[in-house]
Amino acid sequence: MAEHMAEVLKAHPGVFRTFEIDGALKTDTTYRTGIIESIVPVAGKTFLDVGAADGFESRALALRGAARALAVEGKESLYVQARKAADLLGLDNHDVLKADVRVIDELGLGTFDCVLCFGFLYHMSNSFNVLKRLAHVTNGLLLLETHIAPEPWAKRLLKDKLRGVHLAGVKTLYLDNERFEGRVCMHRGDQAHSKGSLDENWTFWLTAASLVKALTRAGFCIEAWHHEPDPHTPPIIARYGGMLGFGHANTKVFVVARVDPARLPSISPAEISSEPHALVRPRFAKTPADLLNRMALSARSRLKGLLRR
Ligand SMILES: C[S@@+](CC[C@H](N)C(=O)[O-])C[C@H]1O[C@@H](n2cnc3c(N)ncnc32)[C@H](O)[C@@H]1O
Repeated sequence: MAEHMAEVLKAHPGVFRTFEIDGALKTDTTYRTGIIESIVPVAGKTFLDVGAADGFESRALALRGAARALAVEGKESLYVQARKAADLLGLDNHDVLKADVRVIDELGLGTFDCVLCFGFLYHMSNSFNVLKRLAHVTNGLLLLETHIAPEPWAKRLLKDKLRGVHLAGVKTLYLDNERFEGRVCMHRGDQAHSKGSLDENWTFWLTAASLVKALTRAGFCIEAWHHEPDPHTPPIIARYGGMLGFGHANTKVFVVARVDPARLPSISPAEISSEPHALVRPRFAKTPADLLNRMALSARSRLKGLLRR
């Protein structure tokens, strides 16, 4: 396989992304490959890579003997690159699919031992809904690398590149009727050609506490949470975490979460609005029980007001 890869690379330079690992340029290994291998024994396992761009992450796992490594990408230009690389390699355990991950559970793909969600979740305006759907296609682990919304006190520590991101102040939004804190990020530029979301011009970066809530309500148990490297950080994560941008100065976290089949929530269509402000307040469905509940709440607050006088 190494020989075949070398021949393919020679004939098609530029198709495969290159990573500098310990001073050597690699096309079959990424900064995350060692991290993934330290968490999951890759050989014989099935992997789903969501928001896969040109498919580099799942290619590396297929080359390491994964039973199946499927890359799902929603943008035509990136999908075409991933497809081309997969066809050139011709591995029967690696495939590429052009699809919208926001409905991943509706695609009939089955379940995977490990779902990779790298650099993707913070591009979603309703990340809670996406996590619930990912829980339904996972039968083991979710490896999640994402940005969290910087706390107000941490903003001045941020690296220059992140200060440039247009993040609003910390805000409460209701995603699928559950309350979350985060920062709205307005997208600029051409959606079709950026590596951002498919068609929303805003996304919502959850705070650390809200990301924990979203993961647990989506049916995951958090096994490890790496942010600022500390003495307990595994050496492989400490080594590559800097390159990947973990840490308070970068806002990136790496989370290992296991799905708990007994706690899988049911999935409703994602509550999405083109206006984040529409999700600021809970929307009460107009059932008699909801109306009674609302009347009770407003009577209670009026009574409190009278008592205060
Ligand atoms: C920042 S890139 C991350 C790529 C890669 N996973 C990495 O870690 O570098 C986000 C990717 O998600 C893709 N994407 C965004 N929204 C998507 C959606 N709804 N369905 C499928 N892919 C999507 C983008 O086209 C882009 O390739």
